[in-house]
Amino acid sequence: MTVREIKAGVHAVGTQDWDRRLFDELIPLPEGTSYNSFLVSGSEKTALIDGVDPTKEDELIANLRELGVENLDFLVSNHAEQDHSGAIPKILGLYPNCIVVTNAKCVAALKDLHDIADDRFMEIADGETLSLGDKTLQFILAPWVHWPETMFTYVQEDKILFTCDFLGAHLAASNLFVTDAAPARIAAKRYYAEIMMPFRNQVKKHLEKLAGLKIEIVAPSHGPLHDNPTAILDAYADWAGDDVKNEAVIAYVSMHGSTRRMVDYLIDALIKKGVTVKPFNLTQTDLGELAMGLVDAATLIIACPTVLAGPHPAAAYAAILVNALKPKTRFTAIVGSYGWGGRTVEQLTAMTGNLKAEPLDPVLVKGRPQGNDFDRLDQLAAKIAAKHGVEVSSPD
Ligand code: FEO
Repeated sequence: MTVREIKAGVHAVGTQDWDRRLFDELIPLPEGTSYNSFLVSGSEKTALIDGVDPTKEDELIANLRELGVENLDFLVSNHAEQDHSGAIPKILGLYPNCIVVTNAKCVAALKDLHDIADDRFMEIADGETLSLGDKTLQFILAPWVHWPETMFTYVQEDKILFTCDFLGAHLAASNLFVTDAAPARIAAKRYYAEIMMPFRNQVKKHLEKLAGLKIEIVAPSHGPLHDNPTAILDAYADWAGDDVKNEAVIAYVSMHGSTRRMVDYLIDALIKKGVTVKPFNLTQTDLGELAMGLVDAATLIIACPTVLAGPHPAAAYAAILVNALKPKTRFTAIVGSYGWGGRTVEQLTAMTGNLKAEPLDPVLVKGRPQGNDFDRLDQLAAKIAAKHGVEVSSPD
């Protein structure tokens, strides 16, 4: 990544990962990602804000050399996860006077993950400041976005807020700042859904904490920077807020077409009732898209056949993932076909125990759906529309 000046004495020195397509061996990265790192040069001291993924540490070091950095006083670690801390040991070896500045929980996490001597740390508390001369770093503890040790760093004179993962996006881009708001918002929403959604209540608290801060630039550690901070802060307030939309997500898998026929019928029935439907075929969908669909949806329907007396494993995987993501879904339903019996409803219900959602009557059919089965799907659609407060009724 090219070194670029953000403001006088503040440079972006991180790296792009154009080719990466999977994070945590779980999260799809259709547009790659970046590991942002920032050099803040005061009149007396210099600080690096966050490192990069260990696979990119040589690029970070090359960027520091390009800027002629011969002495680094501080490395501020906002988050201990390896994609931001992996380069720290090499940086500390390269700059023997450099001290890692972070909070107590992050010190402990960094020691767990890396071999860093005790005397290379400076522990700071919430609200504490560190002078670099004509620039002052202020540390704002922001736990659980998305690890317990996360924090933000604010440059008081430049009004730049470094947020690490918070407000970020997995997006490799040649532009330093957001230039096209719509795709940037989608990438940020995907990131929120995959990483931040389980910590929605903490997100709300951190947004409140930031409300009194004058912010000109939001600089996360993934994706483009925001010189219109209101856009991303308002988007987060919307996503983390308690309101849900008149949307039903259907996560489905079908083996021989019976569940698929039920899903197709239910989609039409919901549309007729005025409910927006977002179907995801679990054998094909990008799970990030499913996660994004769950950010706003009032209802989640899992549709699957019964296999060996339980839910199809693709549906079980999705249920476990949804349970971990804890969307603000208000209503859930289970739909599907079975051959001779099983405990699909009980098992899927147990797998989604984290959801604070009202379960609606399941619709399970033996074999292919027929006759009264479609009436039951109509009743489910009507119930969902009523729960969503939709007043539009179908012509029939
Ligand atoms: Fe980008 Fe939680 O690490």
